[in-house]
Amino acid sequence: MSSPRHQAHARVLAIAGSPSQRSRSSVLLRHAAGILQRRGLSVGELGLRDIPAEDLIEGNYAGPAANALRARVAAADAVVISSPVYQASFSGGLKAVLDLLDPKALAGKVVLPIATGGSPAHLLALEYGLKPVLSALGARHILAGVYATDTQVRLDEFGAREIDGEVSRRLDDSVERLSELVLPRVAVSSPSYDLGRLALAGAFSV
Ligand SMILES: Cc1cc2nc3c(=O)[nH]c(=O)nc-3n(C[C@H](O)[C@H](O)[C@H](O)COP(=O)(O)O)c2cc1C
Repeated sequence: MSSPRHQAHARVLAIAGSPSQRSRSSVLLRHAAGILQRRGLSVGELGLRDIPAEDLIEGNYAGPAANALRARVAAADAVVISSPVYQASFSGGLKAVLDLLDPKALAGKVVLPIATGGSPAHLLALEYGLKPVLSALGARHILAGVYATDTQVRLDEFGAREIDGEVSRRLDDSVERLSELVLPRVAVSSPSYDLGRLALAGAFSV
Protein backbone atom coordinates (compact mmCIF):
# COMPACT_ATOMS: atom_id res chain seq x y z
CA MET A 1 0.00 0.00 0.00
CA SER A 2 1.20 3.51 -0.65
CA SER A 3 1.64 5.87 2.22
CA PRO A 4 1.19 9.63 2.13
CA ARG A 5 4.68 9.98 3.55
CA HIS A 6 6.18 8.04 0.66
CA GLN A 7 4.07 9.92 -1.87
CA ALA A 8 5.23 13.28 -0.56
CA HIS A 9 8.82 12.26 -0.99
CA ALA A 10 8.82 10.97 -4.57
CA ARG A 11 12.21 12.14 -5.73
CA VAL A 12 14.01 12.18 -9.04
CA LEU A 13 17.71 12.71 -9.61
CA ALA A 14 18.60 14.16 -13.02
CA ILE A 15 22.21 13.39 -13.97
CA ALA A 16 23.71 15.39 -16.84
CA GLY A 17 26.56 13.50 -18.48
CA SER A 18 27.82 16.14 -20.90
CA PRO A 19 31.01 18.07 -20.18
CA SER A 20 29.71 20.95 -22.35
CA GLN A 21 28.29 24.11 -20.81
CA ARG A 22 25.91 24.53 -23.74
CA SER A 23 24.65 21.01 -23.96
CA ARG A 24 21.87 19.57 -26.08
CA SER A 25 21.50 16.46 -23.98
CA SER A 26 21.21 18.66 -20.89
CA VAL A 27 18.48 20.66 -22.62
CA LEU A 28 16.46 17.47 -22.97
CA LEU A 29 17.24 16.53 -19.38
CA ARG A 30 16.03 19.90 -18.08
CA HIS A 31 12.93 19.67 -20.22
CA ALA A 32 12.16 16.32 -18.58
CA ALA A 33 12.97 17.74 -15.14
CA GLY A 34 10.62 20.65 -15.71
CA ILE A 35 7.73 18.36 -16.57
CA LEU A 36 8.37 16.23 -13.51
CA GLN A 37 8.53 19.28 -11.24
CA ARG A 38 5.24 20.56 -12.62
CA ARG A 39 3.80 17.16 -11.77
CA GLY A 40 4.83 17.64 -8.17
CA LEU A 41 7.92 15.49 -8.04
CA SER A 42 11.01 16.77 -6.35
CA VAL A 43 13.86 16.89 -8.88
CA GLY A 44 17.52 17.39 -8.07
CA GLU A 45 20.16 17.95 -10.73
CA LEU A 46 23.70 16.72 -10.80
CA GLY A 47 26.33 17.49 -13.43
CA LEU A 48 29.88 16.37 -14.05
CA ARG A 49 31.17 19.59 -12.49
CA ASP A 50 29.52 18.74 -9.19
CA ILE A 51 32.23 16.18 -8.61
CA PRO A 52 35.87 17.31 -8.54
CA ALA A 53 37.68 16.27 -11.72
CA GLU A 54 40.40 14.66 -9.63
CA ASP A 55 37.88 12.42 -7.92
CA LEU A 56 36.49 11.37 -11.28
CA ILE A 57 39.91 10.71 -12.80
CA GLU A 58 41.24 8.92 -9.74
CA GLY A 59 38.00 7.06 -9.06
CA ASN A 60 37.99 8.42 -5.51
CA TYR A 61 35.26 6.19 -4.20
CA ALA A 62 35.89 7.09 -0.55
CA GLY A 63 35.89 10.88 -1.04
CA PRO A 64 33.16 13.22 0.19
CA ALA A 65 31.88 13.96 -3.32
CA ALA A 66 31.41 10.26 -4.06
CA ASN A 67 29.70 9.76 -0.71
CA ALA A 68 27.34 12.65 -1.46
CA LEU A 69 26.66 11.26 -4.92
CA ARG A 70 25.79 7.83 -3.55
CA ALA A 71 23.52 9.38 -0.93
CA ARG A 72 21.64 11.37 -3.57
CA VAL A 73 21.20 8.32 -5.77
CA ALA A 74 20.08 6.22 -2.80
CA ALA A 75 17.45 8.80 -1.88
CA ALA A 76 15.95 8.93 -5.37
CA ASP A 77 12.94 6.93 -6.53
CA ALA A 78 13.88 7.53 -10.14
CA VAL A 79 16.96 8.62 -12.05
CA VAL A 80 17.00 10.43 -15.40
CA ILE A 81 20.40 10.25 -17.08
CA SER A 82 21.48 12.21 -20.15
CA SER A 83 24.63 11.99 -22.22
CA PRO A 84 26.07 13.02 -25.55
CA VAL A 85 27.24 10.23 -27.82
CA TYR A 86 31.03 10.22 -27.81
CA GLN A 87 32.79 7.72 -30.06
CA ALA A 88 29.65 5.63 -30.45
CA SER A 89 28.91 5.36 -26.73
CA PHE A 90 28.01 7.57 -23.79
CA SER A 91 30.48 10.10 -22.41
CA GLY A 92 33.53 9.06 -20.44
CA GLY A 93 32.68 11.68 -17.84
CA LEU A 94 29.36 10.02 -17.15
CA LYS A 95 31.07 6.65 -16.91
CA ALA A 96 33.46 8.10 -14.32
CA VAL A 97 30.43 9.23 -12.30
CA LEU A 98 28.72 5.86 -12.59
CA ASP A 99 31.96 4.17 -11.52
CA LEU A 100 31.63 5.90 -8.14
CA LEU A 101 28.28 4.27 -7.40
CA ASP A 102 27.65 1.13 -5.39
CA PRO A 103 27.33 -2.02 -7.49
CA LYS A 104 23.54 -2.18 -7.06
CA ALA A 105 22.91 1.55 -6.70
CA LEU A 106 20.04 1.58 -9.21
CA ALA A 107 18.16 -1.44 -7.87
CA GLY A 108 14.48 -0.68 -7.36
CA LYS A 109 14.65 2.64 -9.20
CA VAL A 110 12.98 3.68 -12.40
CA VAL A 111 15.60 4.89 -14.86
CA LEU A 112 15.08 7.04 -17.95
CA PRO A 113 18.08 7.37 -20.30
CA ILE A 114 18.43 10.27 -22.74
CA ALA A 115 21.12 10.88 -25.37
CA THR A 116 21.92 13.25 -28.21
CA GLY A 117 24.26 12.54 -31.08
CA GLY A 118 25.49 14.17 -34.24
CA SER A 119 23.71 11.68 -36.44
CA PRO A 120 21.05 8.97 -36.24
CA ALA A 121 23.78 6.38 -36.87
CA HIS A 122 24.49 6.02 -33.16
CA LEU A 123 20.91 5.75 -32.03
CA LEU A 124 21.75 2.38 -30.51
CA ALA A 125 24.42 3.85 -28.23
CA LEU A 126 21.76 3.91 -25.53
CA GLU A 127 20.94 0.24 -26.03
CA TYR A 128 24.46 -1.12 -26.40
CA GLY A 129 26.43 1.44 -24.41
CA LEU A 130 24.48 2.90 -21.52
CA LYS A 131 21.79 0.34 -20.77
CA PRO A 132 24.15 -2.57 -20.01
CA VAL A 133 25.92 -0.35 -17.47
CA LEU A 134 22.63 0.68 -15.88
CA SER A 135 21.69 -2.98 -15.74
CA ALA A 136 24.98 -3.86 -14.07
CA LEU A 137 24.15 -1.23 -11.46
CA GLY A 138 20.98 -3.12 -10.61
CA ALA A 139 18.46 -1.20 -12.72
CA ARG A 140 15.63 -3.49 -13.78
CA HIS A 141 13.08 -0.86 -14.69
CA ILE A 142 14.61 1.07 -17.57
CA LEU A 143 12.14 3.12 -19.58
CA ALA A 144 12.34 3.44 -23.34
CA GLY A 145 15.22 5.85 -23.92
CA VAL A 146 14.99 9.09 -25.85
CA TYR A 147 17.58 9.78 -28.55
CA ALA A 148 17.77 12.98 -30.59
CA THR A 149 20.16 14.30 -33.19
CA ASP A 150 21.75 17.73 -33.10
CA THR A 151 19.36 19.04 -35.72
CA GLN A 152 16.45 18.10 -33.46
CA VAL A 153 17.72 20.10 -30.47
CA ARG A 154 18.72 23.56 -31.59
CA LEU A 155 20.68 26.00 -29.47
CA ASP A 156 21.39 29.56 -30.53
CA GLU A 157 24.31 31.71 -29.46
CA PHE A 158 22.29 33.10 -26.56
CA GLY A 159 21.52 29.65 -25.23
CA ALA A 160 17.91 29.65 -26.38
CA ARG A 161 16.66 26.21 -27.26
CA GLU A 162 14.19 24.58 -29.52
CA ILE A 163 13.27 20.92 -29.32
CA ASP A 164 11.84 19.22 -32.38
CA GLY A 165 8.16 18.40 -31.90
CA GLU A 166 8.58 14.68 -32.46
CA VAL A 167 11.43 14.46 -29.92
CA SER A 168 9.43 16.52 -27.49
CA ARG A 169 6.49 14.13 -27.79
CA ARG A 170 8.71 11.07 -27.24
CA LEU A 171 10.30 12.71 -24.24
CA ASP A 172 6.92 13.71 -22.83
CA ASP A 173 5.69 10.12 -23.20
CA SER A 174 8.69 8.68 -21.37
CA VAL A 175 8.46 11.29 -18.62
CA GLU A 176 4.75 10.60 -18.31
CA ARG A 177 5.49 6.91 -17.80
CA LEU A 178 8.13 7.72 -15.23
CA SER A 179 5.79 9.94 -13.25
CA GLU A 180 3.03 7.31 -13.41
CA LEU A 181 5.41 4.91 -11.76
CA VAL A 182 6.49 7.13 -8.91
CA LEU A 183 3.42 9.26 -8.23
CA PRO A 184 0.84 8.50 -5.54
CA ARG A 185 -1.59 6.36 -7.43
CA VAL A 186 1.01 3.63 -7.82
CA ALA A 187 0.67 1.15 -4.98
CA VAL A 188 4.08 1.13 -3.43
CA SER A 189 5.44 0.69 0.00
CA SER A 190 9.06 0.91 -1.06
CA PRO A 191 10.97 1.73 -4.24
CA SER A 192 10.15 -1.79 -5.50
CA TYR A 193 7.43 -1.04 -8.02
CA ASP A 194 4.44 -3.02 -9.12
CA LEU A 195 5.68 -5.10 -12.03
CA GLY A 196 2.28 -5.40 -13.73
CA ARG A 197 1.93 -1.67 -13.83
CA LEU A 198 5.46 -1.31 -15.12
CA ALA A 199 4.64 -3.65 -17.99
CA LEU A 200 1.52 -1.65 -18.80
CA ALA A 201 3.52 1.56 -18.71
CA GLY A 202 5.93 0.23 -21.33
CA ALA A 203 8.93 -0.26 -19.12
CA PHE A 204 11.03 -3.31 -19.69
CA SER A 205 13.38 -5.39 -17.70
CA VAL A 206 16.92 -6.07 -18.75
C1 LIG B 1 34.45 14.02 -28.76
C2 LIG B 1 33.14 13.89 -29.49
C3 LIG B 1 32.78 12.67 -30.01
C4 LIG B 1 31.58 12.51 -30.67
N1 LIG B 1 31.25 11.28 -31.16
C5 LIG B 1 30.06 11.11 -31.78
C6 LIG B 1 29.68 9.84 -32.28
O1 LIG B 1 30.42 8.86 -32.21
N2 LIG B 1 28.46 9.73 -32.85
C7 LIG B 1 27.59 10.78 -32.97
O2 LIG B 1 26.49 10.62 -33.49
N3 LIG B 1 27.93 12.03 -32.50
C8 LIG B 1 29.12 12.20 -31.90
N4 LIG B 1 29.47 13.43 -31.41
C9 LIG B 1 28.50 14.54 -31.50
C10 LIG B 1 27.74 14.69 -30.18
O3 LIG B 1 27.26 13.47 -29.71
C11 LIG B 1 26.55 15.61 -30.33
O4 LIG B 1 26.93 16.88 -30.83
C12 LIG B 1 25.78 15.74 -29.03
O5 LIG B 1 24.53 16.35 -29.27
C13 LIG B 1 26.52 16.57 -27.99
O6 LIG B 1 25.76 16.59 -26.82
P1 LIG B 1 25.96 17.73 -25.71
O7 LIG B 1 25.64 19.02 -26.40
O8 LIG B 1 24.98 17.40 -24.65
O9 LIG B 1 27.37 17.64 -25.25
C14 LIG B 1 30.69 13.61 -30.79
C15 LIG B 1 31.07 14.86 -30.26
C16 LIG B 1 32.27 14.99 -29.62
C17 LIG B 1 32.66 16.35 -29.06
